[in-house]
This record gives sequence, structure tokens and C-alpha cells, in this order.
Amino acid sequence: MSNIENIERLEEFHKQALEELREAVQPDSLEQWRIRYLGSHGEVKALMQRLKDLPPDEKPAFGKRINEIKQELTREFQKAKGRRADVETTARKKSFDMTLPGAPVAIGHKHIITQTIEEIAEIFARMGFTVAYGPEVEDEWHIFDALNMPASHPARDPLDSFYITETVILRSETSNVQIRVMESQDPPVRIISPGRVYRPDTVDATHSFMFHQVEGLYVDEGVSMVDLKTHLDQFCKVYFGHEVATRFRPHFFPFTEPSAEVDISCHLCAGDREDCPICKGTGWIELGGCGMVDPNVLEAVGYDAEKYTGYAFGFGIERMVMRKYNIPDIRLLFENDVRFLRQF
Ligand code: DAH
Repeated sequence: MSNIENIERLEEFHKQALEELREAVQPDSLEQWRIRYLGSHGEVKALMQRLKDLPPDEKPAFGKRINEIKQELTREFQKAKGRRADVETTARKKSFDMTLPGAPVAIGHKHIITQTIEEIAEIFARMGFTVAYGPEVEDEWHIFDALNMPASHPARDPLDSFYITETVILRSETSNVQIRVMESQDPPVRIISPGRVYRPDTVDATHSFMFHQVEGLYVDEGVSMVDLKTHLDQFCKVYFGHEVATRFRPHFFPFTEPSAEVDISCHLCAGDREDCPICKGTGWIELGGCGMVDPNVLEAVGYDAEKYTGYAFGFGIERMVMRKYNIPDIRLLFENDVRFLRQF
């Protein structure tokens, strides 16, 4: 075969390869084309191997041309591959089905303490109580003096409260709201006040430097201990369950006279187990303090203590939640572990 014929054959081959590339429209036909023409055992390779059998004067032209063809086929193949990728992406985009369910989005919910505060407010609302809020950073008057705790009172010991300055305190109880509400309105008063309180306590299973209380205050003409006991007993039965009994133990608080501590019956052992981990065999769990508002407190806010009487109470919210849901450690409520919080 002459040089001319050999080159013509090459051109023929070139044309056919390009034509087949254009026709390679099936999903894997591009790859098949590549193997057939550019693969290590492909046709371009085979033509190159023929080079050594050609007469020396034909070699340069043939060699040059087959190299050019190889380069062009490689280039065209890359272009075709690029076009194919574009087509596939567009197809994928077009096939997006908006009726299919999407990836689920995690939906949060209220913390169990917030849920409990709302539940407490709702139960007391049925008894005519509204919700009041007061500051967590408080002055001495509202947290101590007006609550019948003069400067010498042991509860004012700096070891029992976080002092911000000598006269500004991070409140250790919600009782300051009693004073703020009474200063801002005349009787009758019927409020509860939930909120955060702070104490310099070492953190353990039942103590935290921050926890929540709910304060209650009812002042009107003729309010008596009967109202106090009835309302709190009613509340406990609605919140904890109707089988729950309450008891009032004499106690002392500076701002109430007489004062009591409120206990509810132990749900775990009903007093039958000496080693009960919840009530320690007493059959009762302490909920908080209460009492009849001390006349000194009514006078401090300018109320007529001859005309009005009132009751007040303060319960620990974490303690209520732990009792109701059998939570053994207060820290679980503050660690923000969603595996725990999701349960409520
Ligand atoms: N403030 C008290 C405490 O934190 C709880 C308390 C007791 C609140 C008696 C009251 C009350 O309103 O009347 O220990």
C-alpha cells in the first residue's frame, strides 16, 4: 500500500470514529467508544503499532497524522463526556419530586420546667390567681426589710445569698414579688409568681445554685388558714393526682405568722418502707413553705393590717417535677441532654 493510501485510510478511520462518537447516546456507550478507540487495546493503539511495519519514508507522515488523530479523538471524547454530565444533572433537577416527603426537621418543645410553670399557672388561674413577675436582681428592701427581715436577721448572712454589691442581691426566693405586687396595687391581691432563684449551694442530686420557685399571695378581707389549706390541698390533688394527701407542719418564716411547711404523701411507699429513697421512710415529701402573711409585711407595703389578712406560699418547682415524674437527680433538668428532655 502506498503512502497516500495509508493516509487516506487514516482519514477514513478518523471520520468513522468521530461519527460513532456523535452517535454514542446510550448511557454507557461513551465508555464503550473510549475503550474501542482510545483504550490500551484500542484501534488507535493498533494503528500506531503498524507504524513499525511501514517503509521508512512513510513513517513520518503516518506517525504525525495518527498522533494528531489521537489527540483530536481524546479532545472530542472529553467534550462529549462534559455534555453528557450536563444533560444528566439537568435531568436529575427536572426529576425533583416535590410531592415526596422531605428530610424530617427536628421540632423542639418546651422544657419540662416551662411546661410545669404553665400547668401551675393554669391550675391557680381556675382559683382566680393571675401571674406576676419580679426582678431576679433585687434590693435589700424588697428581698429582706419589707419581708420582716431586719438587718440583724440570720437569713441575710452573705453565705446564704449571692451578693452583687453590699445592698444588691441575686434573689434566693421569689418572695420579693409579694412586696412588689402589693406596693403596686391595693387589695384584693391574688397572684402566683414563678421564676428563677439563686443560692450558693454545692450542686448535688437535690441542690443547684439556680432553681425555680413559685410564690403565691392572696390578700383580702377575711382570708384565713382555711383558705390556705383548702387551696393548696386542691392544687396538689390536681397537679399530683387525687390520691395525694397533704399535711401542714408548724414551722417558722419571718414573713408569715403562723407558718407551716407543706408536705405531700409519698407515692412510692406511702410510708411503708423505712429505706424509701424518696421519703426516707417518713411517708411525706416536703414541697415548700406557707403561712398567714405577717402583719408587719402588710404594714411595710402600706396595707391596713387590721382590715386585711392574707396567706402566702413558696414551692420549689424542680422538687415538684422530680416528685411527679420520679426524676432522681436535679442536674438532669439543667444539663440540656435532649435524650432526657424529649421524654416530657
Ligand atoms: N421563701 C421561702 C423559701 O424560699 C418559701 C416560703 C415560705 C414562701 C413561706 C412563702 C411563705 O411565701 O409564706 O424557703
